[in-house]
Amino acid sequence: MEDSSYWEIEPNEIVIRTCEHIKSGNALDLGCGEGRDAAFLTKKGFDVLAVDSSARGIHKAEQLAKIHKLKIKTRIEDIIDLSLNKNFDLILCNNVLHFLDFKNVKKVIEKMKKHTKIGGLNVISAFIENSGRYMTICPEFSNKTISIFSHAGHEIVYNEMNDKKGFAFLFKENQLKEFYREWDIIHYKELTTGIEQHDFTKLRRHGISEIIARIK
Ligand SMILES: C[S@@+](CC[C@H](N)C(=O)[O-])C[C@H]1O[C@@H](n2cnc3c(N)ncnc32)[C@H](O)[C@@H]1O
Repeated sequence: MEDSSYWEIEPNEIVIRTCEHIKSGNALDLGCGEGRDAAFLTKKGFDVLAVDSSARGIHKAEQLAKIHKLKIKTRIEDIIDLSLNKNFDLILCNNVLHFLDFKNVKKVIEKMKKHTKIGGLNVISAFIENSGRYMTICPEFSNKTISIFSHAGHEIVYNEMNDKKGFAFLFKENQLKEFYREWDIIHYKELTTGIEQHDFTKLRRHGISEIIARIK
């Protein structure tokens, strides 16, 4: 690749878990980023369409596919306006929905549900709001110190994030599950991630809700 990936190339853990429940078919990766999940699923034998509004992300997904000799279909498009003329066995939307406002979160989830084949799966992971139990903490968007601890020899100061800054939308506890009330919920979990750091960000951790659901 011409430069290093900002997003990792290992798949999201939830995608590995998903493969315990579906073995093949066609898959749609909404907000695919640099294609780590799309590449993993293609390697597993899925026929994958990867969509992202970022031309740079799609370019890197295509490079990733090329390096691994994988055939991934790509589209540079906004997932809110994306129109689909077929249905899929598996639709993913990982780490994307918190960038959309609630009206569009509902629109995208409805689109995912509508375009899933009978027996197919939807997979979503997205950030959840601070609740005392889960913490989404991005020091860049913080105002109030909530903890100080050591990590790798450095003293880290964590501040409470102002939910209104940084992300357009954060799920409330159990809210993601509610969207799939009439589906079989195979997996649902809310958690706080370990400490993460991307190339140009400070150390951070996120509260996440994640779901694997099967249409009845
Ligand atoms: C944090 S990355 C996640 C990438 C990938 N799903 C993963 O988990 O590695 C979020 C991605 O969502 C994309 N994105 C955000 N809003 C979007 C939209 N409205 N339409 C399409 N892509 C969008 C961004 O361009 C970015 O690539």
